[in-house]
Amino acid sequence: MKKHISIIVAVAENNAIGKGNKLLWHISDDLKRFKRLTTGHPVVMGKKTYESLPVKPLPNRTNVVISDIGGELIKGCEMAYSIEEAIEKCANNEESFIIGGGSVYRQFLPFADKLYITKVHKAFDADTFFPEIDENEWQLIEREDVEPDGKNDFSFSYLTYVRRK
Ligand SMILES: NC(=O)c1ccc[n+]([C@@H]2O[C@H](COP(=O)([O-])OP(=O)(O)OC[C@H]3O[C@@H](n4cnc5c(N)ncnc54)[C@H](OP(=O)(O)O)[C@@H]3O)[C@@H](O)[C@H]2O)c1
Repeated sequence: MKKHISIIVAVAENNAIGKGNKLLWHISDDLKRFKRLTTGHPVVMGKKTYESLPVKPLPNRTNVVISDIGGELIKGCEMAYSIEEAIEKCANNEESFIIGGGSVYRQFLPFADKLYITKVHKAFDADTFFPEIDENEWQLIEREDVEPDGKNDFSFSYLTYVRRK
């Protein structure tokens, strides 16, 4: 039985990912891609990210919410009270997605096999950041560059990394 743990995140040029428990941009193409990749798979998130979702729980996905507050239950979600418990709740022999936020990404990075990074080519003022990706540990296997979409003044790239053997 193997867990296949993937991180999915949108990161600014300065590694910013959020401010005031909100995202920093609205990229419709990226949100569609997020839905396409994660639907049908377990998604794991910290309590603050869960609270920030416009639609919760995310439909057609098992939502696993991590909280320190023992005994707390959220309707329609599975709860985990530690990273180890959250890993237990990730599916066997199937991809599970870590969807944020900053604290959860940091704690899960050592356990992840794959990273789906949307790199936004602009720096943002933020209070939450993604850790630096060590290219000695992670190998870039796919890159797609996307031009500004008319609503945003920045380009972005879809980067897929796998852990080096
Ligand atoms: N750009 C992106 O792709 C992206 C994606 C997702 C989120 N975000 C942004 O990230 C920000 C939120 O990130 P954040 O770091 O502040 O919060 P977070 O990681 O979403 O949630 C933190 C909470 O998760 C729980 N938690 C975390 N680790 C735990 C552990 N080991 N054991 C038990 N509980 C644990 C705690 O909940 P309790 O307080 O209940 O104990 C903690 O307060 C927002 O701005 C959001 O918009 C960005």
